[in-house]
Amino acid sequence: MQNVLQLRCEPMDRVRIGFIGLGVRAKRAVERMMHIEGAEVTAICDLVAANVDEAQQIILSHGGVADTFCDREGWMRVCEHPNVDVVYICTDWLSHSNIALHAMNCGKHAAIEVPMATTIEDCWKLVETAERTRRHCIMLENCCYDEFELTLLQMTKQGILGEIIHAEGSYLHDLRERISSNDDGGRKWSNWQVEFMKHHNGNPYPTHGLGPIALAMGIHRGDRMKSIVSVSSKRVSSGSGEDALVGNMNSSIITTEKGHTIVVQHCISLPHPYSRSFLLSGTKGFAQKYPMPHIALDPNGDRAIVGDELETILEQHKHPFVQKYKPKGEALCGRRWIDYAMDSRLIYCLRNGLPLDMDVYDAAEWSCLVELTELSAANGGTPIEIPDFTRGNWNTLKGIHFAE
Ligand SMILES: NC(=O)c1ccc[n+]([C@@H]2O[C@H](COP(=O)([O-])OP(=O)(O)OC[C@H]3O[C@@H](n4cnc5c(N)ncnc54)[C@H](O)[C@@H]3O)[C@@H](O)[C@H]2O)c1
Repeated sequence: MQNVLQLRCEPMDRVRIGFIGLGVRAKRAVERMMHIEGAEVTAICDLVAANVDEAQQIILSHGGVADTFCDREGWMRVCEHPNVDVVYICTDWLSHSNIALHAMNCGKHAAIEVPMATTIEDCWKLVETAERTRRHCIMLENCCYDEFELTLLQMTKQGILGEIIHAEGSYLHDLRERISSNDDGGRKWSNWQVEFMKHHNGNPYPTHGLGPIALAMGIHRGDRMKSIVSVSSKRVSSGSGEDALVGNMNSSIITTEKGHTIVVQHCISLPHPYSRSFLLSGTKGFAQKYPMPHIALDPNGDRAIVGDELETILEQHKHPFVQKYKPKGEALCGRRWIDYAMDSRLIYCLRNGLPLDMDVYDAAEWSCLVELTELSAANGGTPIEIPDFTRGNWNTLKGIHFAE
């Protein structure tokens, strides 16, 4: 099968979007799409009528209207809908891959919330289906569009940090209160996420931490993740009864083909200031975003550059996406401007027939850690091979390149 690296599809003047799953995350996305040139929401679907109504209200308030679906088979009809070009999937984790597979089999592009899939088998199915149908399959990893990450990506490409030998990414987010109060702005925490974590003892949410560092390290763009060891700590209870049991600390080390290393961590049930780590350690420099952004550069590699000095350097290397999308995105959705940047890029690339910023191989490589971490941890941290979803083509592209 021909690979889909740098896949280009027919340009389209309008991008007609079908949303499946209209919970907390998707309603914000529907609103964003109202402000993106060339985007049109033509179909919406959820199992809960109130969610469908609220999303339709957003669309109506901007002068549009979408076909609505609110039953068990609705997601299939959105995928089959003649006025849908891209299916935007914001359901719970376990339903992502089936919906995306059907969407591509119906000739639609698939844009999927994180993680794209929870099993290696589903990751392979999604890769194979994208290749066979020649459709885009992108995971909506918004953290790749954050300012510090984009700027450091730019600096890495310019060689300022030298060869990146080691990186760290994580999702350390103290969600105990939301979980025990069973509410996150409308989402019921006791259901799918906690339920998944009760039965899985690895890293269920690796992509926010891994995505930006994988791009900076050129994963499947000159290097590839080869093997992983993973361990999980004991589980803890949030203290609100057995039902509120929420998991543990999972830590993994990945080795790449070039001999570089990546540490990935996940914990949502211990006190911890929010952190995705985003640490890059290169032969000429260092960067870390959390808890406070700082970098270090040769010849003074042991001195942390912070404050105004850091701002000046970051300003010099500001990524064009930040200039282009942050002002409007921030005005529309504050700190969530990164989601506006992500959606704007998706629509821009689809309209212009360009390769998307991330491809199905990224989505598979990052998502397959959900199962791999669990497998390794269950076997006492045994090293496990990471599949090469590109089937030997990981060295074809050289570094990340966002199409213009
Ligand atoms: N990138 C980010 O920063 C970020 C942040 C939050 C959530 N997410 C991701 O977004 C996704 C959704 O999260 P959320 O917080 O909005 O959850 P949510 O529970 O609020 O929303 C999920 C919605 O999907 C609907 N749904 C489930 N199965 C369906 C089906 N078969 N057909 C139609 N609708 C169906 C549910 O009724 C619900 O309204 C998850 O994958 C999550 O990981 C990403």
